[in-house]
Amino acid sequence: METQTQFFRDTWAEINLDHLYENVMNIRTHIPGDVKVFAVVKANAYGHGDVQTALTALSAGAHGLAVAFLDEAISLRKAGITAPIHVLGATRPKDVRIASELDISLTTFHREWLVEAEKQLSEGDRLNLHIKCDTGMGRIGVRTTEELKGIEKYIQAHSQFELEGIFTHFATADELNDDYLDQQLARFEHMLDQLDSLPAYIHSSNSAATLRKTNTLFNAVRVGIAMYGLTPSPEMKPELPFPLKEVFSLHSRLIHTKELSAGEKVSYGATYETVEAEWIGTIPIGYADGWLRKLQGQDVIVNEKRVPIVGRVCMDQCMIRLPEFLEIGTHVTLIGKQGEEAITMDEIAGKLDTINYEVPCMISTRVPRIYIRNGEPSEVSNKLLSSGIHRQEENNHQINE
Ligand SMILES: Cc1ncc(COP(=O)(O)O)c(C=O)c1O
Repeated sequence: METQTQFFRDTWAEINLDHLYENVMNIRTHIPGDVKVFAVVKANAYGHGDVQTALTALSAGAHGLAVAFLDEAISLRKAGITAPIHVLGATRPKDVRIASELDISLTTFHREWLVEAEKQLSEGDRLNLHIKCDTGMGRIGVRTTEELKGIEKYIQAHSQFELEGIFTHFATADELNDDYLDQQLARFEHMLDQLDSLPAYIHSSNSAATLRKTNTLFNAVRVGIAMYGLTPSPEMKPELPFPLKEVFSLHSRLIHTKELSAGEKVSYGATYETVEAEWIGTIPIGYADGWLRKLQGQDVIVNEKRVPIVGRVCMDQCMIRLPEFLEIGTHVTLIGKQGEEAITMDEIAGKLDTINYEVPCMISTRVPRIYIRNGEPSEVSNKLLSSGIHRQEENNHQINE
């Protein structure tokens, strides 16, 4: 088949929706059937693509979706997604009307917020709310039972509001010492005891707690990182109840190869000098794609072998040392597998002194995402391109190796 792509540069991310589906199914089977899964698809599904991820997670048994901001929820509704959507972060009270119109559940943690929000709503409007309890994360949420009761009473007294949920977030669920988590859990349970009646959704668990702490499940969980096939923390690796399959991989192709003689320099600052005659390849990915300058020296995989990035990473390109002459167009894997060789998200996170969460989030929208379904590339999305004339064509293109 003729190669047709919607993008015009040899760098792309592959999002393996089959792996995502399997991860969600495994999470679903790991927890009791009556505990609902909210798939956390904020930040463009941790860089994986919100709509494609959401649809796959829902088809694998997720009950609803969670995002950080109202804009993200609106964008999912506009894509035609009708499943429950909860905005985990704060929303301005002046913006609640659109949430009510689109049946998007919001988070509340101030009585004054309710007073302001009510002014935006008419008699017949309905706004679903989850109360956020700050039991020790120190981010957002009610900290005292007085604040909690004040909010509950206000909601009860105003028919525009429906108390749909109550939740908290753990600060240390990915650590194996449970002391702080247990304190947070006890505070949350104490808060639940204060309510006149319990709402439909009670939730506290992120991926880490969902995988390792059955007493935190209540009747709903909010799962992000595990769904993407990544372990919440390195210490949890030996504890995983089932293997997680990485969803995101990153690829490029050689756009230039050349042989340099000994003593020649490569890239800005001339920081790399060849020690002997060396084949140097160039790939079209750089720090503007989120492939940061700190990745100088990091390995990539070519022809199933590791080779290093040499010299500084530029804005749009970087150079790699090749084992021999290789053709322009040779496939280079930056994150993912080639044969027996693999570069994991954790390896890149380690090189960058960060956590695996940050890596797919930082790969910018300039890098097109190709979605793999049933083992086949099925669709391309690129946030930059999809806003323009290419949108119509989005589902029609196929990528061939
Ligand atoms: C409030 C809240 N719930 C759930 C999650 C999902 O966490 P994880 O990706 O560790 O599953 C997050 C992510 O940061 C969050 O902020």
